[in-house]
Amino acid sequence: MKKIIVVGSLNTDMVIRAPYCPKGGETLTGSDFMVNCGGKGANQATAAAKLGGNVLMCGCVGDDMFGENLINHLAFAGVNTRHVRKVAGTPTGTAVIIVTNGENRIVLDKGANACLSAEDIDAVLSEAREGDIYLTQLENPIDVIGYGLKRAKEKGLVTILNPAPADRAISKYFTYVDFITPNESELELFGGKEALFANGIRAVITTLGGDGYEYADKEGVKQYPCISVKVVDTTAAGDTFCGGMCAELAIGKPLNEAMAFGSKAASITCTRRGAATAIPYRNEVENWK
Ligand code: RIB
Repeated sequence: MKKIIVVGSLNTDMVIRAPYCPKGGETLTGSDFMVNCGGKGANQATAAAKLGGNVLMCGCVGDDMFGENLINHLAFAGVNTRHVRKVAGTPTGTAVIIVTNGENRIVLDKGANACLSAEDIDAVLSEAREGDIYLTQLENPIDVIGYGLKRAKEKGLVTILNPAPADRAISKYFTYVDFITPNESELELFGGKEALFANGIRAVITTLGGDGYEYADKEGVKQYPCISVKVVDTTAAGDTFCGGMCAELAIGKPLNEAMAFGSKAASITCTRRGAATAIPYRNEVENWK
Protein backbone atom coordinates (compact mmCIF):
# COMPACT_ATOMS: atom_id res chain seq x y z
CA MET A 1 0.00 0.00 0.00
CA LYS A 2 1.28 3.50 -0.84
CA LYS A 3 1.67 6.02 1.94
CA ILE A 4 -0.67 9.06 1.99
CA ILE A 5 1.00 12.25 3.15
CA VAL A 6 -1.43 15.01 4.10
CA VAL A 7 0.08 18.46 4.56
CA GLY A 8 -2.41 20.97 5.89
CA SER A 9 -4.41 22.66 8.58
CA LEU A 10 -5.77 21.53 11.94
CA ASN A 11 -8.60 23.58 13.44
CA THR A 12 -11.03 23.52 16.30
CA ASP A 13 -14.48 24.06 14.79
CA MET A 14 -16.98 26.07 16.86
CA VAL A 15 -20.29 25.21 15.24
CA ILE A 16 -23.75 26.66 15.80
CA ARG A 17 -26.98 26.01 13.93
CA ALA A 18 -29.01 29.10 12.93
CA PRO A 19 -32.37 29.54 11.18
CA TYR A 20 -30.69 31.94 8.73
CA CYS A 21 -27.48 33.96 8.47
CA PRO A 22 -27.69 37.08 10.69
CA LYS A 23 -27.30 40.51 9.14
CA GLY A 24 -24.84 43.14 10.46
CA GLY A 25 -25.98 44.39 13.90
CA GLU A 26 -28.47 41.53 14.33
CA THR A 27 -28.44 39.06 17.26
CA LEU A 28 -30.03 35.74 16.44
CA THR A 29 -30.84 32.76 18.65
CA GLY A 30 -29.16 29.61 17.36
CA SER A 31 -28.96 26.07 18.73
CA ASP A 32 -26.94 22.84 18.93
CA PHE A 33 -23.56 24.44 19.68
CA MET A 34 -20.69 21.96 19.23
CA VAL A 35 -16.89 22.07 19.50
CA ASN A 36 -15.37 19.69 16.92
CA CYS A 37 -12.04 18.62 15.48
CA GLY A 38 -11.68 20.06 12.00
CA GLY A 39 -9.43 21.86 9.57
CA LYS A 40 -9.25 20.79 5.95
CA GLY A 41 -5.92 19.02 6.47
CA ALA A 42 -6.99 17.16 9.61
CA ASN A 43 -10.34 16.23 8.04
CA GLN A 44 -8.69 14.88 4.90
CA ALA A 45 -6.13 12.93 6.94
CA THR A 46 -8.94 11.54 9.13
CA ALA A 47 -10.95 10.54 6.07
CA ALA A 48 -8.01 8.83 4.39
CA ALA A 49 -7.22 6.89 7.59
CA LYS A 50 -10.82 5.95 8.52
CA LEU A 51 -11.28 4.78 4.94
CA GLY A 52 -8.31 2.44 5.13
CA GLY A 53 -5.20 4.47 4.24
CA ASN A 54 -1.72 4.52 5.82
CA VAL A 55 -1.63 8.24 6.61
CA LEU A 56 1.08 10.61 7.77
CA MET A 57 -0.10 14.13 8.69
CA CYS A 58 2.12 17.22 8.62
CA GLY A 59 0.87 20.45 10.19
CA CYS A 60 1.01 22.75 13.21
CA VAL A 61 -1.11 23.24 16.32
CA GLY A 62 -0.76 25.58 19.30
CA ASP A 63 0.53 24.39 22.67
CA ASP A 64 -3.00 24.51 24.10
CA MET A 65 -5.69 21.94 24.95
CA PHE A 66 -7.23 22.29 21.48
CA GLY A 67 -3.98 21.25 19.80
CA GLU A 68 -3.61 18.29 22.16
CA ASN A 69 -7.20 17.29 21.47
CA LEU A 70 -6.65 17.40 17.70
CA ILE A 71 -3.52 15.25 17.92
CA ASN A 72 -5.36 12.69 20.07
CA HIS A 73 -8.30 12.69 17.71
CA LEU A 74 -6.10 12.08 14.66
CA ALA A 75 -4.21 9.30 16.43
CA PHE A 76 -7.52 7.66 17.39
CA ALA A 77 -8.60 7.73 13.73
CA GLY A 78 -5.36 5.94 12.84
CA VAL A 79 -3.32 8.89 11.52
CA ASN A 80 0.39 9.01 12.24
CA THR A 81 0.92 12.40 13.96
CA ARG A 82 4.69 12.53 14.47
CA HIS A 83 4.92 15.41 11.97
CA VAL A 84 2.27 17.53 13.69
CA ARG A 85 4.31 20.23 15.44
CA LYS A 86 3.21 22.10 18.58
CA VAL A 87 4.09 25.79 18.31
CA ALA A 88 4.73 27.54 21.64
CA GLY A 89 2.79 30.71 22.42
CA THR A 90 0.40 30.40 19.45
CA PRO A 91 -3.25 29.35 19.51
CA THR A 92 -4.49 26.36 17.55
CA GLY A 93 -6.38 27.30 14.37
CA THR A 94 -10.09 28.00 14.91
CA ALA A 95 -13.06 27.95 12.55
CA VAL A 96 -16.37 29.55 13.52
CA ILE A 97 -19.07 27.79 11.51
CA ILE A 98 -22.73 28.83 11.12
CA VAL A 99 -24.93 26.07 9.70
CA THR A 100 -28.16 27.20 8.04
CA ASN A 101 -30.40 24.69 6.23
CA GLY A 102 -27.59 22.14 5.95
CA GLU A 103 -25.21 24.67 4.39
CA ASN A 104 -22.19 26.08 6.23
CA ARG A 105 -20.46 29.46 6.38
CA ILE A 106 -16.97 29.52 7.87
CA VAL A 107 -14.79 32.25 9.40
CA LEU A 108 -11.24 31.07 10.02
CA ASP A 109 -8.41 32.19 12.33
CA LYS A 110 -5.33 30.32 11.05
CA GLY A 111 -3.49 30.42 14.40
CA ALA A 112 -0.63 27.89 14.39
CA ASN A 113 -1.46 26.83 10.82
CA ALA A 114 0.33 30.02 9.76
CA CYS A 115 3.58 28.62 11.24
CA LEU A 116 3.93 25.65 8.85
CA SER A 117 7.43 25.83 7.38
CA ALA A 118 9.52 24.38 4.56
CA GLU A 119 11.45 22.45 7.24
CA ASP A 120 8.21 20.74 8.33
CA ILE A 121 7.64 19.70 4.71
CA ASP A 122 11.21 18.44 4.27
CA ALA A 123 10.87 16.37 7.44
CA VAL A 124 7.68 14.61 6.38
CA LEU A 125 8.88 14.11 2.80
CA SER A 126 12.04 12.42 4.09
CA GLU A 127 9.71 9.48 4.87
CA ALA A 128 8.10 9.42 1.40
CA ARG A 129 8.89 7.16 -1.52
CA GLU A 130 8.26 7.51 -5.24
CA GLY A 131 4.61 6.73 -6.02
CA ASP A 132 3.30 7.75 -2.59
CA ILE A 133 0.36 10.17 -2.52
CA TYR A 134 0.66 13.80 -1.45
CA LEU A 135 -2.56 15.66 -0.55
CA THR A 136 -2.67 19.32 0.44
CA GLN A 137 -4.97 22.38 0.71
CA LEU A 138 -4.67 26.17 1.17
CA GLU A 139 -5.20 26.92 4.88
CA ASN A 140 -1.45 27.33 5.48
CA PRO A 141 1.03 29.88 4.00
CA ILE A 142 0.66 29.60 0.24
CA ASP A 143 4.37 29.59 -0.58
CA VAL A 144 5.00 26.79 1.91
CA ILE A 145 2.19 24.76 0.36
CA GLY A 146 3.66 25.53 -3.07
CA TYR A 147 7.11 24.47 -1.89
CA GLY A 148 5.63 21.19 -0.68
CA LEU A 149 3.99 20.50 -4.03
CA LYS A 150 7.28 21.19 -5.82
CA ARG A 151 9.34 18.95 -3.51
CA ALA A 152 6.73 16.18 -3.60
CA LYS A 153 6.66 16.25 -7.42
CA GLU A 154 10.46 16.22 -7.58
CA LYS A 155 10.45 13.12 -5.36
CA GLY A 156 7.99 11.37 -7.71
CA LEU A 157 4.87 11.50 -5.53
CA VAL A 158 1.37 11.80 -6.97
CA THR A 159 0.31 15.33 -6.01
CA ILE A 160 -3.30 16.27 -5.28
CA LEU A 161 -4.32 19.83 -4.45
CA ASN A 162 -7.66 20.65 -2.87
CA PRO A 163 -7.56 24.42 -3.60
CA ALA A 164 -9.62 25.53 -0.62
CA PRO A 165 -10.05 28.18 0.51
CA ALA A 166 -9.30 29.42 -3.02
CA ASP A 167 -6.30 31.72 -3.40
CA ARG A 168 -4.94 32.68 -6.83
CA ALA A 169 -1.42 32.96 -5.40
CA ILE A 170 -1.11 29.15 -5.62
CA SER A 171 -1.39 29.28 -9.44
CA LYS A 172 2.35 29.60 -9.93
CA TYR A 173 2.77 26.13 -8.41
CA PHE A 174 0.17 24.39 -10.62
CA THR A 175 2.91 22.87 -12.72
CA TYR A 176 3.65 20.56 -9.74
CA VAL A 177 0.03 19.40 -9.38
CA ASP A 178 -1.27 16.16 -10.92
CA PHE A 179 -4.91 16.38 -9.80
CA ILE A 180 -6.84 19.37 -8.50
CA THR A 181 -10.19 19.06 -6.68
CA PRO A 182 -11.98 22.43 -6.63
CA ASN A 183 -15.66 23.02 -6.00
CA GLU A 184 -17.54 25.10 -8.57
CA SER A 185 -16.79 28.51 -7.05
CA GLU A 186 -13.10 27.66 -6.61
CA LEU A 187 -12.91 26.50 -10.22
CA GLU A 188 -14.41 29.79 -11.34
CA LEU A 189 -11.91 31.79 -9.29
CA PHE A 190 -9.02 29.95 -11.00
CA GLY A 191 -10.43 30.82 -14.43
CA GLY A 192 -12.00 27.45 -15.35
CA LYS A 193 -10.65 24.09 -16.48
CA GLU A 194 -8.78 25.30 -19.57
CA ALA A 195 -6.77 27.75 -17.48
CA LEU A 196 -5.80 24.92 -15.14
CA PHE A 197 -4.72 22.63 -18.00
CA ALA A 198 -2.74 25.49 -19.52
CA ASN A 199 -0.86 25.74 -16.23
CA GLY A 200 0.16 22.08 -16.39
CA ILE A 201 -2.45 20.31 -14.25
CA ARG A 202 -3.24 16.78 -15.56
CA ALA A 203 -6.86 16.48 -14.48
CA VAL A 204 -9.53 18.60 -12.81
CA ILE A 205 -11.98 16.83 -10.50
CA THR A 206 -14.74 19.27 -9.60
CA THR A 207 -17.10 18.49 -6.73
CA LEU A 208 -20.66 19.60 -7.54
CA GLY A 209 -22.42 19.25 -4.18
CA GLY A 210 -25.68 17.33 -4.55
CA ASP A 211 -25.05 16.97 -8.30
CA GLY A 212 -22.04 14.69 -7.81
CA TYR A 213 -18.68 15.40 -9.40
CA GLU A 214 -17.03 15.98 -12.78
CA TYR A 215 -13.78 14.59 -14.15
CA ALA A 216 -12.00 16.55 -16.87
CA ASP A 217 -8.69 16.16 -18.64
CA LYS A 218 -7.43 17.33 -22.03
CA GLU A 219 -9.28 14.42 -23.70
CA GLY A 220 -12.73 15.31 -22.38
CA VAL A 221 -15.21 15.85 -19.56
CA LYS A 222 -17.54 13.45 -17.79
CA GLN A 223 -20.04 14.10 -15.00
CA TYR A 224 -21.03 11.50 -12.37
CA PRO A 225 -23.97 11.61 -9.94
CA CYS A 226 -23.63 11.02 -6.19
CA ILE A 227 -25.81 8.78 -4.04
CA SER A 228 -28.92 10.45 -2.68
CA VAL A 229 -28.97 11.12 1.09
CA LYS A 230 -30.82 13.31 3.58
CA VAL A 231 -28.39 16.19 4.09
CA VAL A 232 -27.88 17.35 7.68
CA ASP A 233 -24.55 19.22 7.46
CA THR A 234 -22.16 19.49 4.49
CA THR A 235 -19.07 20.36 6.60
CA ALA A 236 -16.09 18.17 5.57
CA ALA A 237 -17.90 16.61 2.61
CA GLY A 238 -15.25 17.87 0.17
CA ASP A 239 -12.53 16.74 2.59
CA THR A 240 -14.05 13.26 2.76
CA PHE A 241 -14.13 13.10 -1.05
CA CYS A 242 -10.40 13.89 -1.23
CA GLY A 243 -9.39 11.57 1.62
CA GLY A 244 -11.52 8.71 0.32
CA MET A 245 -10.17 9.09 -3.19
CA CYS A 246 -6.59 8.95 -1.86
CA ALA A 247 -7.33 5.87 0.27
CA GLU A 248 -8.42 4.03 -2.88
CA LEU A 249 -5.55 5.28 -5.04
CA ALA A 250 -3.15 4.11 -2.33
CA ILE A 251 -4.33 0.51 -2.72
CA GLY A 252 -3.95 0.70 -6.49
CA LYS A 253 -7.57 1.34 -7.50
CA PRO A 254 -8.07 3.22 -10.80
CA LEU A 255 -9.04 6.88 -10.56
CA ASN A 256 -12.67 6.35 -11.65
CA GLU A 257 -13.26 3.86 -8.81
CA ALA A 258 -11.36 6.07 -6.35
CA MET A 259 -13.55 9.08 -7.19
CA ALA A 260 -16.76 7.04 -6.85
CA PHE A 261 -15.65 5.75 -3.44
CA GLY A 262 -14.72 9.27 -2.27
CA SER A 263 -18.08 10.57 -3.47
CA LYS A 264 -20.05 7.88 -1.63
CA ALA A 265 -18.10 8.51 1.58
CA ALA A 266 -18.69 12.28 1.19
CA SER A 267 -22.44 11.76 0.86
CA ILE A 268 -22.46 9.77 4.10
CA THR A 269 -20.54 12.58 5.85
CA CYS A 270 -23.40 14.93 4.87
CA THR A 271 -25.90 12.82 6.84
CA ARG A 272 -24.15 13.68 10.15
CA ARG A 273 -23.28 16.80 12.07
CA GLY A 274 -19.70 17.99 12.51
CA ALA A 275 -16.43 17.64 10.62
CA ALA A 276 -13.94 14.85 11.39
CA THR A 277 -16.41 12.90 13.56
CA ALA A 278 -18.97 12.84 10.73
CA ILE A 279 -16.58 11.02 8.36
CA PRO A 280 -17.51 7.34 7.95
CA TYR A 281 -15.27 4.29 8.35
CA ARG A 282 -14.57 2.07 5.35
CA ASN A 283 -17.04 -0.65 6.41
CA GLU A 284 -19.83 1.96 6.69
CA VAL A 285 -19.20 3.02 3.09
CA GLU A 286 -19.06 -0.56 1.85
CA ASN A 287 -22.29 -1.50 3.67
CA TRP A 288 -24.26 1.69 2.85
CA LYS A 289 -27.41 0.75 0.91
O1 RIB B 1 -13.67 21.79 5.08
C1 RIB B 1 -14.25 21.98 6.34
C2 RIB B 1 -13.27 22.63 7.27
O2 RIB B 1 -13.00 23.93 6.81
C3 RIB B 1 -13.77 22.80 8.68
O3 RIB B 1 -13.51 21.68 9.49
C4 RIB B 1 -13.08 24.07 9.14
O4 RIB B 1 -12.10 23.86 10.10
C5 RIB B 1 -12.51 24.70 7.87
O5 RIB B 1 -11.15 24.61 7.84
